[in-house]
Amino acid sequence: MTIDIARARAETPGTRHVVHLNNAGAALPPQPVLDAVTAHLALEATIGGYEAAEHANGRLEGVYDSVARLLACSREEVALAENATAAWGMAFNALAALPGEGFRPGDRILTARAEYAANLIPFLQASRRTGVAVEVIPSDETGQTSVEALEAMIAEPGKGAVKLIAITHIPTNGGLVNPAAAIGRVARRHGIPYLLDACQTVGQMPVDVEALGCDFLSATGRKFLRAPRGTGFLYVRKAWLDRIEPYTLDHSGGALAGPDRYTMRPDARRFELWESNIAARLGLGVAVDYALSWGLEAIRDRAFALADRLRHGLDALPGVTVRDLGAERCAIVTFTVDGHDPRAIKAALRGQGINLSVSSAPSTPFDMDARGLTEVVRASPHYYNDEAEVERLLAAVKAL
Ligand SMILES: Cc1ncc(COP(=O)(O)O)c(C=O)c1O
Repeated sequence: MTIDIARARAETPGTRHVVHLNNAGAALPPQPVLDAVTAHLALEATIGGYEAAEHANGRLEGVYDSVARLLACSREEVALAENATAAWGMAFNALAALPGEGFRPGDRILTARAEYAANLIPFLQASRRTGVAVEVIPSDETGQTSVEALEAMIAEPGKGAVKLIAITHIPTNGGLVNPAAAIGRVARRHGIPYLLDACQTVGQMPVDVEALGCDFLSATGRKFLRAPRGTGFLYVRKAWLDRIEPYTLDHSGGALAGPDRYTMRPDARRFELWESNIAARLGLGVAVDYALSWGLEAIRDRAFALADRLRHGLDALPGVTVRDLGAERCAIVTFTVDGHDPRAIKAALRGQGINLSVSSAPSTPFDMDARGLTEVVRASPHYYNDEAEVERLLAAVKAL
């Protein structure tokens, strides 16, 4: 199926105001998402927040089915969250403290070079608390995480047990798509828990947790999924639900079963807390259904093709260097321009109605340091962008 660009743009009110090439930051939501959120807020203001939630209960339950369809998992394996960092942290902190199997001195966590800093800091916290070591899997000659190096690290003699493989599928700072499924096969073969940050993946390309082989997957709503800000979710493989316990457990994820006993919900929703932004969650469900209605293969093909067109155009401009790595490249395009500060480029283009962002070293320190980069300009088209917008960006960069 191909995308009907005219319809996609007509259903995206923001396209009438900006050239939005910051979908890796936060995408323009489509009209149905906007309608779902504003209608619920209006209902809350009219009949009361708890009463509006009761009214929306059926649709709210449907959000779990929608996310399950998106990930090809079951609704019992889905917990909603406020963002990807919260979702990731719920899984990571639970693993760190797993009864009888938590991290101990000498244990190892293996991660990737372009891991997001919001994941690296909890690694270091866990290291300080438990003595677990954090090791970075080298990248191969294409720049993607090396599956061979991962195998070698697991087999290294005299080293502690690998207690977790935690990598980012699509890093925030470029077009790289890490070989997440191949890494999943290694994790499975060795029985190592596998936590995948799919924050930039969902809504940009198909995701199938079975094919990826991950035990946990975290994601956000506002990026390529086009959902409201402040939404995200966690996938927890069913087999883990027998033994994983949230670090923060309240009386909706659990229940007091006596003065000195508590129980947990049987499903992944044990990770959720009682209070949440219902309007945003309804918007998330609509955004997922909307993406599925276009088809994730069609979305990927269109977004990746626009990004390729942009890369080729940038490559042809003197003084411009495309910074993307990897054998497969997604809809995130990063570049630098000789003699121009990335932030100044972003500001100049913003003045022309073109939205871009800057990815800086503190977000992906290991990768940026390894490449001697401090900041790159990031342009991230989506399927609803058109070729004319890509050409406008190229002309604007050329004219710098
Ligand atoms: C790869 C990656 N992981 C995690 C995050 C954090 O997502 P959130 O801001 O929804 O917590 C981001 C955000 O840019 C990201 O790019």
